[in-house]
Amino acid sequence: MPEIRPGTRPGTAPDTAELTFRALDAARSRTLALTDLDEAELTAQHSPLMSPLVWDLAHIGQQEDLWLLRGGNAAAQGLLSCRVEQLYDAFEHPRASRVALPLLGPGEARAYLADVRGRVLDGLGRLRGDSAEELFPARMVEQHEQQHVETMLATHQLRRGAPLLGSGAPLPPARPVPHDAVLVPGGPFELGVDGHDEPWSLDNERPAHVVDVATFRIGRVPVTNAEWAQFVAAGGYDEPRWWSERGWAHRQEAGLERPLFWQPDGSRRRFGHVEELPADEPVQHVDHFEAEAYAAWAGARLPTEQEWEKACVWDPALGRRRRWPWGDEDWTPERANLGGTALRPAPVGSYAAGASAYGVEQLMGDVWEWTSSSFEPWPGFETMLYAQYSAPFFGGDYRVLRGGSWAVDAGAVRPSFRNWDHPYRRQIFTGVRLAWDA
Ligand SMILES: [Fe+2]
Repeated sequence: MPEIRPGTRPGTAPDTAELTFRALDAARSRTLALTDLDEAELTAQHSPLMSPLVWDLAHIGQQEDLWLLRGGNAAAQGLLSCRVEQLYDAFEHPRASRVALPLLGPGEARAYLADVRGRVLDGLGRLRGDSAEELFPARMVEQHEQQHVETMLATHQLRRGAPLLGSGAPLPPARPVPHDAVLVPGGPFELGVDGHDEPWSLDNERPAHVVDVATFRIGRVPVTNAEWAQFVAAGGYDEPRWWSERGWAHRQEAGLERPLFWQPDGSRRRFGHVEELPADEPVQHVDHFEAEAYAAWAGARLPTEQEWEKACVWDPALGRRRRWPWGDEDWTPERANLGGTALRPAPVGSYAAGASAYGVEQLMGDVWEWTSSSFEPWPGFETMLYAQYSAPFFGGDYRVLRGGSWAVDAGAVRPSFRNWDHPYRRQIFTGVRLAWDA
């Protein structure tokens, strides 16, 4: 075993301002596509869990205004009056209350977004160097916008009524794949990343550090709808012994009987379409308590995030991380279901080309995978420009989710990326991968 020195793998070439322009533009195209709706759709509260879409729209502009036009100085005057700007403070206004605020209308919100972006591009155009440090704020804002695109997709999924988004782009053909457990031998590996390796990584992904992980096994593919249906049919939702005490209390109180958007007749609702449950698609819209219960029923457990990341990026032959599970090459649509156009996870077996060094598949994209880990800082954590991004959430009632979903853009997720949410959340695009002690 070679000695592991964190952060010493070949660095990635610094990105150019031109690529950053394109990334910002790509995020904006997605935002505008999801909000190209009439005023009633944009201003309605489709679910108490979500903001009206018109709030997300102007909030995207407000964050860009704050971080890229004012360097994060909230006391400086932005393009909106202070009174209007504070309507878009996510910490001030819980989602369920936002519909009652005197928000900008759709036309005003779009004009504001365009105004901010025009000024941002002028500023970026004046950047002389292409240094990662100079471009980081723009990349952080791009990722913020992409995160809201995923949030807006969740709003679209919760919305009732005739379909607005179509049924999704075609996916690569699936091949038969064993639903078995892959052995990941114990030993140290490098967890997390440094700016040198991943210049657009966010604060909670850093710094790279060596951790020792005991030998474990992990599911080659995520748990599928067909497998979950067996858990339902076996009375898994009626048996307290599979559930944690808190999980069972929640199951009782919330009346959980099956994943969100599954219907009692075996169909599911997806972006306004009612369709038969695809057997081989990874199960989606389950919360952490359900994930734990399923794992217990299956004689397994959830992976820790350290185990998940090792199975994803560690290359045991070379004794170093890969950038992605499949290697150091950039994402392509043959390697993972990312980018949001599919509007659904891909059946297991669809991404042989995306397998990790250990042979684990579909770690990136498809569904966010619940881990057993609470959200805590890595040793040596330092806040980034947006100091409130992670720090207020450490130690809270959150579980970490890994790998991104089909709704996530490849520019806004990495193997080191850490998402977190309350264990009872299931309107997000969540699924399950099992793990076992060796
Ligand atoms: Fe936000």
